[in-house]
Amino acid sequence: MNTSRRNLIVIPGDGIGPEIMAQAVRVLEWFRAKRGFNCDFQEESFGVGTYHRTGRFMREGLMEEILTADAVLFGAIGGTEDHAAIPTKVRREQGLLRVRREMEVFANIRPIKIFPSLQGASTLKPEVLDGVDFVIVRELLSGIYFGEPRGIETLPDGQRRGFNTQVYTSSEIQRIGRVAFELARQRSGRVTSVDKANVMEAGALWREEIKALHAAEYSDVALDHLYADNASMQIVRSPRQFDVMVTDNLFGDILSDCAAMVAGSLGMLASASLSAPRADGRRRGLYEPAHGSAPDIAGQNKANPLATILSFGMALEMSFNRKADADLLERAVNKVLEKKIRTADIAERGATVVSTSGTGDALLAVLDSLV
Ligand code: IPM
Ligand code: MG
Repeated sequence: MNTSRRNLIVIPGDGIGPEIMAQAVRVLEWFRAKRGFNCDFQEESFGVGTYHRTGRFMREGLMEEILTADAVLFGAIGGTEDHAAIPTKVRREQGLLRVRREMEVFANIRPIKIFPSLQGASTLKPEVLDGVDFVIVRELLSGIYFGEPRGIETLPDGQRRGFNTQVYTSSEIQRIGRVAFELARQRSGRVTSVDKANVMEAGALWREEIKALHAAEYSDVALDHLYADNASMQIVRSPRQFDVMVTDNLFGDILSDCAAMVAGSLGMLASASLSAPRADGRRRGLYEPAHGSAPDIAGQNKANPLATILSFGMALEMSFNRKADADLLERAVNKVLEKKIRTADIAERGATVVSTSGTGDALLAVLDSLV
């Protein structure tokens, strides 16, 4: 086993990123002080704000450091200052999608788990939510978000035409399929694969490859297939039916926002993005909340920091092999929610609405009480 000292890069980013990350860093410091989480960490600036200050999304040399780090904890990007004013080419070459690509984190894992105390915060009925516990495995490095050709062109008649390409190779489908099947084996052994095989060739190939992989290597796992439109309906109709849902980049982006409401709020949805194992057997990990930069509430100390804090929890488990600490953190979050200490996005009648930092205060107090 590699016992070298671990390192974590913390990137608050734009919009609500800095305020939610400040709370995650307090939690990180707590684990260092109280649980012997032995890890170096450095905070780095990245994003639209950095671009407007320096002309680049990140400082020279940071990408190399990101690539050798054990984990990156990321807040949000874009939104605040004039994002659209930055040339598309620069955004594409330097933005979040580039970080994901350089890190080769093709497997985005988004757990949809309902904290019992949050059932009242969801827009869905409690009886629909009881026992919901599934994971969306989203392919993160291919599909229409990366496919070429892409662009906006002007046609001879003066009209403009925007175009993107949905593209998947068999190996890209197989590697994400493997992640889903392996995960299902550690859970209830069911995979639902989501595509639009009825209208898209890339979707037809997706389905064929998932079926073939299943037959060849994972026939012990139960597999079914849904069209993406039907999957969105099933998530709100009966989310309990799912265990592991595997899908492409675009559908995973959309369906995970939809599923986040099952868990009460987009402010609760954590995510881990993992690469294949590197030469030393360790995977690169990028941990980020699934929500964006929420410019409308940025700087107001209102945003829910829990998705970022729970993403740190995923890092504890998946990059630092500290499952007990991840569980402890989850228990503490549940306790805070039980006490009805909530940011506005998850507040129900009778809840005390607290600020971003108020959530952090409450969580640290609960953590102290648990050890
Ligand atoms: C997400 C976000 C990102 C995505 C945006 C911010 C680029 O919506 O992580 O789901 O589309 O992947
Ligand atoms: Mg999204």
